[in-house]
Amino acid sequence: MIKLLTTLISLSVILGSLTVIAQDYETMPPPRKLTPEQAKVAEQNYQKYCSLCHGKERQGHVNDHAPSLKSASLFQSGVPHAILRPMSYGRTGTPMGGYLDEVGGPMTLAETWNLTYWLFEQAGVDRIKLSTNPVHGDIQKGAQSYQKECATCHGKNGEGITAPALGNPSALAHNTDEFIRYAIRHGRQNTPMKAYQGVLTDQEIDNITAFLRSKASGWQDTKPILKSLPTPENYVINPKGADPSFSLKDNQYVMAEDLNEALEKKQRMVLFDTRVTSVWQTAHIKGSVPLPYYADLDIMVEDIPTDVQIVAYCSCPRAAADHVINKLKNRGYTRTAVLWEGIFGWMHLGYPVTRGDINNLTD
Ligand code: HEC
Ligand code: HEC
Repeated sequence: MIKLLTTLISLSVILGSLTVIAQDYETMPPPRKLTPEQAKVAEQNYQKYCSLCHGKERQGHVNDHAPSLKSASLFQSGVPHAILRPMSYGRTGTPMGGYLDEVGGPMTLAETWNLTYWLFEQAGVDRIKLSTNPVHGDIQKGAQSYQKECATCHGKNGEGITAPALGNPSALAHNTDEFIRYAIRHGRQNTPMKAYQGVLTDQEIDNITAFLRSKASGWQDTKPILKSLPTPENYVINPKGADPSFSLKDNQYVMAEDLNEALEKKQRMVLFDTRVTSVWQTAHIKGSVPLPYYADLDIMVEDIPTDVQIVAYCSCPRAAADHVINKLKNRGYTRTAVLWEGIFGWMHLGYPVTRGDINNLTD
């Protein structure tokens, strides 16, 4: 009897929450249908540019804790801009760079839109209409709950540890309060982000949402003035310098301190920035050449000298650079290394970077 009663109660709780979802939200049709040809190109672009971190199956968490690009809740609540924006402009300060040509990325506007539509199509869920009204809550209480419940994964200051940087200005500028609340309530299916509905009270969830929103500092699309890319005759830094002799960790990794010392001593090397080119435009180690992880090595390789120390880096801190260096090793390059700390580690240690933007040229 007791068992039956609890089953009935839990059934009605489940039914209750289902009706709440259905009643609360109006659904919307998918944003747009692609032609088979457009879908094919979009899929190719996805595999070429995104699968390194987000995974071949869009499952996420392959590198850099890149989020799932198939979870139902993301695509239910996602207006196309929730996907298009990060894809186009990236999330400043995270390994997610911008892929739109306007900021120095490899994709055209039409390609970024089509990849957005393709991701919605693949997710195959009904979109729901979320209100754009602010969510009100007690910011201070929200901050306390955040530290208790969320900081282990998302970071004390929302900087992201094993989970997205919730304090990221570019994310906060585009994700509405309801989008954030929906993610907290429903979690992200098949990822470490669980559903907090029923775990925290509605009021607590509203408080946390209001707290996160209070961190938004605004963000503007900036169209950088793109710097022209180095040509092969400029690949080698300090062509007349001595060769560095790095001692490599695991036969692959050079420490930031050693690389900085070699650069200060004006030693001869080629430095490859293996991130999407748009972030090279924003900031890179001086003298580095973009060789993004998706570049066609068949074309690039004839310009890459074999007798010089090659060092590759990314922000990942190492996934993209490892990917490129391993491909070069397979082609017989022997003097290769990957920067252990990645470029964010390099910057945290206070070593210099230069901007691509010609308004801020320091080199
Ligand atoms: C070098 C690794 C890397 C690559 C390559 C990459 N991403 Fe990301 N992406 C990330 C990370 C890390 C985040 C989370 C950033 C943060 O902390 O907010 C992210 C976030 C996103 C988001 C936001 C998702 C959400 O839940 O808010 C979208 C959309 C996205 N990426 C799409 C793409 C697409 C499309 C491509 C290919 C064109 C791509 N990414 C390539 C690492 C990557
Ligand atoms: C066990 C680790 C963990 C904890 C604890 C956690 N999260 Fe998450 N969270 C994640 C991961 C991982 C993701 C990315 C999931 C994915 O792949 O889409 C995420 C995603 C999110 C997103 C979606 C971000 C976006 O741009 O799409 C929000 C919002 C969020 N979490 C809020 C919270 C809040 C608020 C709490 C505390 C109540 C919390 N999370 C607790 C791991 C965690």
